[in-house]
Amino acid sequence: MPLLEKFSIAKQLRSSLVDAGKDPTTVVFDVVNSATEGVVDGRTTILAGTNNYLGMTFDPDCISAGITALNTLGTGTTGSRMANGSYAAHGKLGAELADFYGCPNALVFSTGYTANLGVLTALLGPDDAVLLDSDAHASLYDGCRMSGADIFRFKHNDLTSLERRLERLGERARRCLIVVEGMYSVLGDCAPLAEIVALKERFGASLLVDEAHSLGVFGETGRGVAEADGVSDKVDFIVGTFSKSLGAMGGFCVSRHEILDLFRYVSRPFMFTASPSPVVMATTHEALRQLRARPELKDTLWSNARRLYSGLQELGLELGPELSPVVAVRCKDKESALSSWNKLLHAGVYVNMMLPPATPGGGSFLRCSISAAHTPEQIDIIISKFKDL
Ligand SMILES: Cc1ncc(COP(=O)(O)O)c(C=O)c1O
Repeated sequence: MPLLEKFSIAKQLRSSLVDAGKDPTTVVFDVVNSATEGVVDGRTTILAGTNNYLGMTFDPDCISAGITALNTLGTGTTGSRMANGSYAAHGKLGAELADFYGCPNALVFSTGYTANLGVLTALLGPDDAVLLDSDAHASLYDGCRMSGADIFRFKHNDLTSLERRLERLGERARRCLIVVEGMYSVLGDCAPLAEIVALKERFGASLLVDEAHSLGVFGETGRGVAEADGVSDKVDFIVGTFSKSLGAMGGFCVSRHEILDLFRYVSRPFMFTASPSPVVMATTHEALRQLRARPELKDTLWSNARRLYSGLQELGLELGPELSPVVAVRCKDKESALSSWNKLLHAGVYVNMMLPPATPGGGSFLRCSISAAHTPEQIDIIISKFKDL
């Protein structure tokens, strides 16, 4: 059937993954013992690729908040807020996020992915332009594409490239949205936000920062890279997710512009999908409370990140350009990434395999994400397993 012919590429990809050992898309954690340990194929395995930066998935208070919500509000909302109405918890979490970021309001989405689709399609239309960092996450690309705006990519974290594109836009720069991430998800490097803000102000453009990987990780109070760089009040829109440092599922947008509240009437990925479940609202709310109340979690996370980064560096491995809780090891090529990933899994260490084309510069990486919940002993085991490679 001609319609199905295109799947021959996916079939080839699957074969190449299976031939190398285990297909990463079929890895199953039969048991999850804690935020940092699971069981794969009967083997106790250190989880070193979960984005569980603060270890919230097994926090006792988050779990008990989730159980209470389950018992009192049920398993799901069974529809969108527009059609089925909101639960008090939706508003409460939105208010908490707005307060945390010092913004007039916040909008809660069902996932981080739909937050990006929802915000970008509401903000941008065919008359607008968007300047997108070339390493931006797929959800940012997809949202820009769905919006119908003219998309211009600039070189990753390259201020000259961004400036040139702004210059070329001329008057149109004032209808332009610059889209970047705080900390980038594959290599763990950060956007130079202070300089990007200076450029956007010079040209009268607007700026959206996706802090999916930076919430709870950067900034004095954990608000992200914009806070760390002292430009929180200059960023127009901040999007993020509940699925990483908050250990749940869902996404959000906060903005200093009151207009964000109107997105509820125009953002299709907000309007036409079921709202987050009571359990998700409750555990996220509790995780956010803890993120604010326990700054020591962030300190432990960074000390763990330093231990892993310097340990792998001492082995002579090529790592991402900056120390951060995302530690990416560059592999020679796709084949060596596949083989090393399988060996690590076999040795009881689960990391993420990142292959082209969804990678910066088309490289192949073994990506570790470290957690405040990892013990120094677990980190030393991860390092020793890399050494065995
Ligand atoms: C930068 C970035 N934005 C958005 C998302 C989507 O978040 P979620 O998985 O919560 O839908 C991700 C997920 O990996 C991400 O890395």
